[in-house]
Amino acid sequence: MNTARTPDLSSFWMPFTANRHFKHHPHLMVAGEGAYFTLHDGRRVFDCLSGLWCTPLGHGRPEITSAVSAQLAELDFAPTFQVGHPKAFELAARIARWAPNGMNRVFFSNSGSEAVDSALKIAIAYHQARGDARRVRIIGRERAYHGVGIGGISAGGIAANRRTFGALAAPFVDHLPHTYDPAQMRFSRGQPAWGAHLADALERLVALHDASTIAAVIVEPMQGSTGVIVPPVGYLERLREICTRHGILLIFDEVITGFGRLGANFAAQRLNVTPDMIVFAKAVTNGAIPLGGVIVDQRIHDALMQGPDQTIELFHGYTYSGHPVACAAGLATLEVMERDGLIARAQALSAVLEHEVHGLRDEPHVVDIRNIGLAAAIDLTPRPDAPGARGRAAFERGIEAGLLLRFTADTVAVAPPFVSTEDEVRHMIGALRTVLRRVE
Ligand SMILES: Cc1ncc(COP(=O)(O)O)c(C=O)c1O
Repeated sequence: MNTARTPDLSSFWMPFTANRHFKHHPHLMVAGEGAYFTLHDGRRVFDCLSGLWCTPLGHGRPEITSAVSAQLAELDFAPTFQVGHPKAFELAARIARWAPNGMNRVFFSNSGSEAVDSALKIAIAYHQARGDARRVRIIGRERAYHGVGIGGISAGGIAANRRTFGALAAPFVDHLPHTYDPAQMRFSRGQPAWGAHLADALERLVALHDASTIAAVIVEPMQGSTGVIVPPVGYLERLREICTRHGILLIFDEVITGFGRLGANFAAQRLNVTPDMIVFAKAVTNGAIPLGGVIVDQRIHDALMQGPDQTIELFHGYTYSGHPVACAAGLATLEVMERDGLIARAQALSAVLEHEVHGLRDEPHVVDIRNIGLAAAIDLTPRPDAPGARGRAAFERGIEAGLLLRFTADTVAVAPPFVSTEDEVRHMIGALRTVLRRVE
């Protein structure tokens, strides 16, 4: 390690990190260009997960850099409470053009977690505005990750995120079963054929709680953080149908899938199921400046536009909702994606990724491989004495092999930047093969 450039590591309490382990074995990234990071010791590593699913255009995009610096020089901040600035309106209009028909109102936050909280609040406010104040219950799903706000941990389904903070969780929540059954769908490519019927669990929750108490169902169309869990064919369609029949809003959390990851603007379009709200963040600014938000069906928005026109319709917002610099980064990102046809490119690369990643099937420790769009996950058998150790070992061996991998327990996920070449995707999987052979 280049000690001359190593800062004191003690003060930064790192998020979702084994802090003590990291500080004894630090990996610092000091530069990023295209699909690669440079580590503190000068090594370059391929960015296998596009940062944390957020940099599909690669690092150091000059278009984003100049849009951000021009915006900082022109208008570094302007409030959006009772006043506004052009970029927030321009970005909202552009996002609306990317969204399914009728989904044309955009509420901005700074992160995915805040966007989830915003969507849940909008759902409850919508029912209240229509005189349906009993509809306060939120239905999430096992294995879901909706960020770390109180709404997100309540609707989320990752035990570790809920265990410590259960007392803070919203009282009126329930959960659908997750859709992953290895016995039925191991090594499936794209959407598994089995499992549409799992959506019928929503009917049981409706019977249990009564539809009149349920405000919304929130699901990630593809569960990313818990290992690329792909929805079975027909499953989301069935959820949509049950929600519509019972007057329940359907929210897609597209923080990972939004802006091209599945080879269409949103998973909603790729999977042909239109929700009532879409939660987004991450790729909208290519990760350069934090920004999130909710795309809302106009019908829901309009139901809240009541009372005298000087009334604040929704008592919710953030100081930085629609921050001008974040909006400038968002406009530049979407401009580059459109100009360079990057969503079509992601779609084309996804065929290469699918072919290559399933070629790892017979490598040591591999028990399942799944993929959809430009995303895939590989499950390794846990070491009986140390669950998670093999995932971490793959991460460490990955760095040695020139890959920055993402591991969660013993699952390794990859979601390369859309600007990767076919050869880079092949090389990434080839290097991962070497890694698997070195992991004990
Ligand atoms: C589906 C989903 N929702 C919400 C979030 C939370 O986003 P943030 O970390 O920006 O708060 C994430 C983050 O990975 C996510 O994957």
